[in-house]
Amino acid sequence: MAARHKQFWLRAGGALRGEVTVPGDKSISHRAVMLAALAQGRSQIRGWLAAGDTEATLNAMQGLGAQIERIDANTLLIDGGELREPSKALDLKNAGTGIRLLAGLLAGQPFPTVLDGSAQLRRRPMQRITAPLQLMGANIEAAAGACPLTIKPARLQGITYDMPIASAQVKSAILLAGLYADAPTTVLQPGPARDHSERMLRSMGARLDEDGNQVTIHPCAELAPLNIHVPGDVSSAAFLLVAALLAPGSELTIRGVNLNPTRTGLLDALAAMGADFSLTNRGEQAGEPIGDITVRHSALKGIEIGGELVVRMIDEFPILMVAALQAEGETIVRDARELRVKETDRIAVMAAELCKLGAVIEEREDGFRIVGPQVLSGGQVDGHDDHRIAMSLTVAGLSSAEGALVTDAACADDSFPGFAETLQRLGARLVAT
Ligand code: S3P
Repeated sequence: MAARHKQFWLRAGGALRGEVTVPGDKSISHRAVMLAALAQGRSQIRGWLAAGDTEATLNAMQGLGAQIERIDANTLLIDGGELREPSKALDLKNAGTGIRLLAGLLAGQPFPTVLDGSAQLRRRPMQRITAPLQLMGANIEAAAGACPLTIKPARLQGITYDMPIASAQVKSAILLAGLYADAPTTVLQPGPARDHSERMLRSMGARLDEDGNQVTIHPCAELAPLNIHVPGDVSSAAFLLVAALLAPGSELTIRGVNLNPTRTGLLDALAAMGADFSLTNRGEQAGEPIGDITVRHSALKGIEIGGELVVRMIDEFPILMVAALQAEGETIVRDARELRVKETDRIAVMAAELCKLGAVIEEREDGFRIVGPQVLSGGQVDGHDDHRIAMSLTVAGLSSAEGALVTDAACADDSFPGFAETLQRLGARLVAT
């Protein structure tokens, strides 16, 4: 794994040029290690994301008895089968996807478990999964609506659940519990939350029926093993993409990126802002659409974003803010209240940190308004132990007049190990210490 840097010093002026790949998709890596541990037989996962969040899930699966052999940092062989009772509470660190999906998966197991995580994870809402799992008959308790989660064996029944928020973590937790229910389970989603669980489960032999934003899973006693190469994470590519759009003289190709339409909202937003990029070499990998993204420095204009597009780019608003600051005119984001319950309150934290660099951002309850272009003077900002905040601020620093220092930047490793080295290699003026 790349060195774990604590802070990044940034100066404007380096064009980003060349070709690059980004680490494997975080959402797919979490799901792959969980489902491979359940499968009957040996799975192979290449392109595994060896990062803070996903390694926490891997450790949890080992705690549940999964036999995992590491061929190299990014290749795993997993002998799946029955899980067993762990000897202690499982620590999911900062991984919201890890804890929420595991809660669903463990609700139907014949042994008790306790799921816990970092101080940051303990602040995140868990009632959104405990409520539907309890409707299925699960014996799951969350102290004051947060982790630690205590799960005891229970018989699960199939339900139809009208999900109040468009969350892939909630949907996936219910679908995974649905594998163990006595009848089919249906989730109605208000928007198109990422569908990696559905794709992977189907490829392993589970029966799922989809109809628009409704998905039904049938109980399934046996899953076939996985043999996949995880595509590059479009949410990691997003930082390089915006950095290249903002730095004059840039031209960059990012190869082998997951282009699942439930994840590519940022590309649609940037296209509407006038970004010059193209998608080539389109194909399929691990049951997901992939392709290469070639991007060139572009003049951007502001846009309005709301509704389903928000769901399809839910992790990309911190970096969109950085792009919007350099776009001509007004950018308005609505319907993005969920940003307030991510690793941090990403609306408040980004607005406050960017303000330290000289930005003016109007924070709104469910989004924000930015009028650009704005000259960012520079200064010192903090990553708040939130990987997407730290990386977005890094890109902001690269577009600031006097340069910036991002402290608490080690958390970039939670999803993008080697982020600093990748930017340096492409020509960014970044010093990591
Ligand atoms: C994820 C779902 C999203 C996203 C998170 C990863 C997943 O969360 O923000 O980074 O892998 O299912 P929500 O489901 O809470 O929107």
